[in-house]
Amino acid sequence: MNTIKSIVVVSLGVALCGLASCDTGNLRRDPGHIYAPDMTYSRAYDAYTSNPALGKDSLISRLPVDGTIARGHMLPDHLKEGDTTAYKTFTTSLRFNAEEMKEGGRLFNIYCAICHGPNLDGQGPLFASGKFASMPANFKDGKYLHMPVGQMFAAAKYGKNMMGSYAAQLDEKQRWMVIAYIKKVQSENGGDAFTFGEGPAITTGKTDTAKAAMPMAAADAKKDEKKAK
Ligand code: HEC
Repeated sequence: MNTIKSIVVVSLGVALCGLASCDTGNLRRDPGHIYAPDMTYSRAYDAYTSNPALGKDSLISRLPVDGTIARGHMLPDHLKEGDTTAYKTFTTSLRFNAEEMKEGGRLFNIYCAICHGPNLDGQGPLFASGKFASMPANFKDGKYLHMPVGQMFAAAKYGKNMMGSYAAQLDEKQRWMVIAYIKKVQSENGGDAFTFGEGPAITTGKTDTAKAAMPMAAADAKKDEKKAK
């Protein structure tokens, strides 16, 4: 019994000490004796403070200059939000293989189909439920069948009216893969010819790709031939 008592007393004591140290009213911010004042009190401006020399917009932490490309985002696009003229001519030289096209479809189903519909007809479950007031683009409609790819890219990057931006969810390549997927489906529904596919050198005939996919197997077969001789 005595041990329990002393445990209770000790833990109460510890708790009280803890509470006392939470009293921030008497925080000591004065460093006392200073050996190197320049190190104690920084001469440089601290981040997020203001520098009157910078004029009206005096924030110390500056925004990157226009046209800066973030590390790892090496597909340059100097689009500016709202520049609809530039949107219409903006395009990419990216071409996608079957796997990337499949990935484009997967990303579309994750991020876009809830509104635009898995069939791209604008009847996604969110809109069909009546909870989303604005009709999403029906990509099979004549209005969108021939929409320039740059305009679509801009919609994914900046959003459009009730549609939000997907720049944070999809990087540049992923955005283009999603658009390539939309364009592919459109090309099969009266849209323009599909142009995001690989060049004819890679896509002609299944036999070529089968051979290319098994260079090691082919080499082994040759070795075996030699051995047999
Ligand atoms: C929350 C619902 C919603 C989601 C999710 C959504 N959209 Fe949209 N989208 C809309 C609506 C609504 C419009 C019609 C905007 C308008 O014209 O007012 C639209 C329009 C568009 C347009 C036509 C843009 C134009 O210039 O007219 C494109 C292209 C598009 N969306 C692509 C996408 C892609 C790609 C995704 C997935 C990354 C996506 N959307 C996800 C709701 C959505």
